[in-house]
Amino acid sequence: MSKLIARSIGKRFPTRGDDLVVLLDVSLELDTGESAVVMGPSGSGKSTVLNILGTLEPPSSGEVSIDGCDPFSLDERELARFRNRRIGFVFQEHHLLPQCSVLENVLLPTLADGARDRTGEAESRGRALLDRVGLSDRLDHRPAELSGGERQRVSIVRALIQQPVVVLADEPTGNLDRASADGVADLLSEMHADDGAVLIVVTHSERLAKRFGRRFDLVDGTLRPH
Ligand SMILES: Nc1ncnc2c1ncn2[C@@H]1O[C@H](COP(=O)(O)OP(=O)(O)O)[C@@H](O)[C@H]1O
Ligand SMILES: [Mg+2]
Repeated sequence: MSKLIARSIGKRFPTRGDDLVVLLDVSLELDTGESAVVMGPSGSGKSTVLNILGTLEPPSSGEVSIDGCDPFSLDERELARFRNRRIGFVFQEHHLLPQCSVLENVLLPTLADGARDRTGEAESRGRALLDRVGLSDRLDHRPAELSGGERQRVSIVRALIQQPVVVLADEPTGNLDRASADGVADLLSEMHADDGAVLIVVTHSERLAKRFGRRFDLVDGTLRPH
């Protein structure tokens, strides 16, 4: 069974008048090691798709299966744990905690379960990944002391620290200049190739889109192969 399956996802938001129908029929199936790019105009529902696949929001209709599990059948606590373990997020804005160091930010997901890193395994992995993205001399820096590209590299490491099944990146290079954007794109595709997660990237950039496996356009609430 594929690692990530979306079957005929629909999403509507209640409004005072008619519901706002954002997604009509989004279906997608990706296996370990596969990647996809989702493109589409602003407001077409790309972030809504990622929020649903990332279990942050339930669909109004249709089904999601991640690693063989329907996440929306879990209770709130189980779902939070599932999300923390199985899904990595990279957003346009870095969402790093300003008061925490680079290393602490990267290790945050590993502390959320209340599980202590007794063996130091998570910390070793964090240090190795940060080394891999060229930030081993920035471990004690605060996010404000980094460039935009460096912050996104930290975000990518944080997204991968739990060895998730699915990595979702919502316009990860949207705020970066071209050189930093290329660096972040290289990193996402390299690390994805090694890690073997399912990767979905939302972007407006043709340059970025070319680097990933399958390409889809979100049009009229439907995901269409490009
Ligand atoms: N929580 C929400 N409540 C009401 N409307 C929403 C909500 N989230 C998104 N929308 C609406 O859904 C549409 C798609 O939004 P979004 O998924 O953010 O698009 P994109 O990421 O493609 O720019 C927009 O019209 C947006 O205003
Ligand atoms: Mg968006």
